[in-house]
This record gives sequence, C-alpha cells and structure tokens, in this order.
Amino acid sequence: MTARIIAIDGPAGAGKSTIAKLAAKRLGYLYIDTGAMYRVVALCAIREGVAFGDEAALGKIAARVKIELRHEGDLCRVFCDGEDVSAAIRTPEVSAAASPVSAVRPVREALVAQQRALAATGGVVMDGRDIGTYVFPGADCKIFLTAGLTERAARRAKELEEKGYPAEAGAVALELLQRDARDSGRALAPLCKAEDAFELDSTELSIGQVVEKVLALARGDRGGAGPPAV
Ligand code: DC
Repeated sequence: MTARIIAIDGPAGAGKSTIAKLAAKRLGYLYIDTGAMYRVVALCAIREGVAFGDEAALGKIAARVKIELRHEGDLCRVFCDGEDVSAAIRTPEVSAAASPVSAVRPVREALVAQQRALAATGGVVMDGRDIGTYVFPGADCKIFLTAGLTERAARRAKELEEKGYPAEAGAVALELLQRDARDSGRALAPLCKAEDAFELDSTELSIGQVVEKVLALARGDRGGAGPPAV
C-alpha cells in the first residue's frame, strides 16, 4: 500500500520542492510546500517593517494571514490574503528572512497547526525541515533528501539566474551553509533527519531518478537498504 503522508525534509537547495511536486502529481496527492508558508510570514514582516526579533508581532502575522497554496496545472501558486506572492517570496531577501522568522515559536505554532489540518483530508507530499520529526512524526514515509553543497549551490544559482537575480555559485554556497546552520541550530524543531527517515542523496541522480526512488519508498520498497540506520 502507498503511504498516505510522505514527508520530505532536507537542507536548502536539495531539490525538495521539485521532487515533492512531481511525486505528488504522480500519486494524485496534494503537494504542500511548508517553506513557502514561512516565506509568506517573512514577506509580510518585511513589508510591515516588523523586526525579526519581535516574536509577538511575528506570531500575530502568522495567525492573521490567510495562506493558500493553489495548484494550477504544474504550478503551485502561493497566495497571501488573496494576493499572488509566488514570485515575491522567492527573492534572496525573503530567503534570508524566512530562516530567522521560522525560528519563532508563535510562528511555528500557527503554521504547524495549518499544515496538520491540510493533511487531514487525504494523501499528501509535504516538504520542509521538520515534517518527519515534528509535524508528522508518525508519517508512513519519511525521506531526508540531500545533495552535496557544490551541487546544491549550482542548482540554486541556476534557479536564481533564471529569475533574473545575479548569482555566483560561491556566494550562493555560503548563503546555503549559513541558512542550514541556522535552521539546524535552532531550539525549536530544527532541521535534522528523523531516525526512521531514509536518506536519499540526489547529487548524482536526475530529477526523474529521484522521483522514481521516492515513489518506490512510498510503496515501502527501500531497495534492499534494510531498516534505517539509527
Ligand atoms: O524550503 P525553503 O527554502 O522555502 O524554506 C524557507 C525557510 O523556512 C528555511 O530557511 C527554513 C524554514 N522552514 C522551516 O523552518 N520549517 C519547514 N518545515 C520549512 C521551512
């Protein structure tokens, strides 16, 4: 039987959203990009001039804004109070802000409650940092998707350039490292591999190969890998 909740966690730039979106499409599942939700709160904080240390104000934003993930064909569009912010949440400024904003307790509490509610209706593929460890510790398929830093930086630099942002691989690598250090070093639901997650290194794999592997894992086929290393 195919897993109902597929949790994909991992460091920045490992390709989680690309893979999660394709896997969800193949399974007819809902794709939930939890990073986009933290990005929306960060975008609102920037627009409203709220300091990233102002936990109460950030918590109010997270509790107040209506975040919608709308699926249109192959696209997953992100709306904040009815406004399409899909492009606005992907700027380097918002990427940098989302990390400190996501470490704030009231922000996490508000967004995790929404994430759990979104999965109540049917099959989901959810990607983030804490899905297998905190949001759905009981998820029936957990994957920790990684890739080498050079590869992650190259992929992210290409993505940024396609969006019109000048990007140099070395600087992007440093930004990814700093964000991962912050995301894994925080006290609340830090980025880390769940003990029972399958670690999937995508450095040498094509997108298609990673998707096939994820689908196999969702069917319970660990490819002879045996139980997860503890
Ligand atoms: O996946 P992303 O780059 O869009 O995520 C943006 C930030 O949000 C990331 O730096 C960490 C945070 N995040 C989180 O703390 N927990 C999640 N489940 C998803 C993202």
